[in-house]
Formats: sequence, structure tokens, C-alpha cells
Amino acid sequence: MDGNGRWAKERGLPRLEGHRAGAESVREVLEACIELGVEYLTLYAFSSENWSRPPAEVTALMSLLDRFLDEKAKDLDRQNVRLLAIGQLDRLPAKTRALVERIKARTAENTTLTLVLALSYGGREEIVSAARSLASDAVDGKIAPSDIDNDLFASRLQTAGIPDPDLLIRTSGEMRVSNFLLWQISYAEMVIVKKFWPEFRQGELFEAVNEYKRRHRRFGAL
Ligand code: FPP
Repeated sequence: MDGNGRWAKERGLPRLEGHRAGAESVREVLEACIELGVEYLTLYAFSSENWSRPPAEVTALMSLLDRFLDEKAKDLDRQNVRLLAIGQLDRLPAKTRALVERIKARTAENTTLTLVLALSYGGREEIVSAARSLASDAVDGKIAPSDIDNDLFASRLQTAGIPDPDLLIRTSGEMRVSNFLLWQISYAEMVIVKKFWPEFRQGELFEAVNEYKRRHRRFGAL
């Protein structure tokens, strides 16, 4: 969800206003995904690297997240949306973590769409943690190194049970992956949108999905 800061700068507003407008895009895109029949939506809301932003910006982002979760708790349930979270959640403020856990429990049985929030998330950290867990099982004699294959490895990622993304959308015209779902996006189709995230609304989502539909996916085959 790139470009909140630049969107605000262009308008002579503080960065926080960009994040606020970005949270509106989140609300609209979630509704639009439900309308389209999307089953999984993963939002990169806060990266492991985002902790190095100025403390005031980090605090403001956590408050926006808290507000979103607090306001949406009922709606998510009514919309039959299940909430999941990936990332180093133990680094989040206790209040945010408690909200996430409460809504996860409340929406656990919902089936229309799964909303995965990537919070304090880093793809490399996730892969390292999976490797550690497998190494520890190997040392304990629970598995042999030769048992490790793609499926076993994927089962130790935080996204175990969640299908790999079909479509990866990045806003602001950035052409980088920035530590997002490194393992899982192996065959994802990428759509790079020039607009800043606060400008990414229902129409922009529909355009990105249409672009995806025009792609011919080969998964390495002919
Ligand atoms: C990147 O833009 C955006 C973020 C680091 C935060 C994303 C958070 C939200 C959209 C709001 C809260 C989230 C939810 C799920 C309600 P940037 O700050 O890097 O922008 P820039 O590259 O233009 O500086």
C-alpha cells in the first residue's frame, strides 16, 4: 500500500493525513473484493522495516490500525469476513495485539473472504523462522533433512493453509517486492499501478483485476 506519504506531500499535508486516506482505501478495497468474490486479500500494513520510521509515525499508524479494527470488528463479522494476521505480532503494542486476537477469534468461522493483515511482517524473517523450526526438528530427530520439500517448508510459514497469491498489486509505480511474501509470490502475477495508495479505490482494483484476467499464466510450462 505504497505512496501515502507522497500523496500527502503533493497536497501539502502531514504524512499522517496520507495514512488516514490510505485507511479509507483499505475500507473501499475490502468491500470491492467481497463484491468481486475474492477469497483472500493480504494487505501489507506494516513491515519489519517500518519500525525504523520516526516514533510519532509508528504510533500514528498503530492508532489507525486500532481504529480500523475497532470500527470494523462488527462489520467484518456481518460481512462474513475472517481476519488473520501474519508477522512478528509480539512486537506490536499490547492493545493492537489484543484487538487482532479478539477479532481473529470472533471471525474464525467466517467464510466469504479471509483478510490477512501483514503486521510487523518481513518475508525474510518468516523464511528464517521456518528454517529454524525445521532445523530444530532435524536436530531432535523428528525429521530427516531429506524430508524437507516445498510442502513441508510451506507448512512452517505463517501462511500455512493460505493459498499463494494469484495477483500482487503494488501502488505508486514502485517496481520492488520489498520483503513481501517472498516465498509465496513465486508465480503471482504482478500489476504495478502508478497511482498512490490513497487513490487506489474500487475502480483501480477492478482495472487491476481486468489486467490480471488478460494474463496467460504458464507456471514455468509452455
Ligand atoms: C506505505 O506508504 C504505507 C504504510 C507504511 C502504511 C500502510 C497503512 C495504512 C494504509 C493505514 C492503516 C492500515 C490498515 C489496514 C487500516 P509510505 O508511507 O511508505 O508512503 P511513501 O512511500 O509515499 O512515503
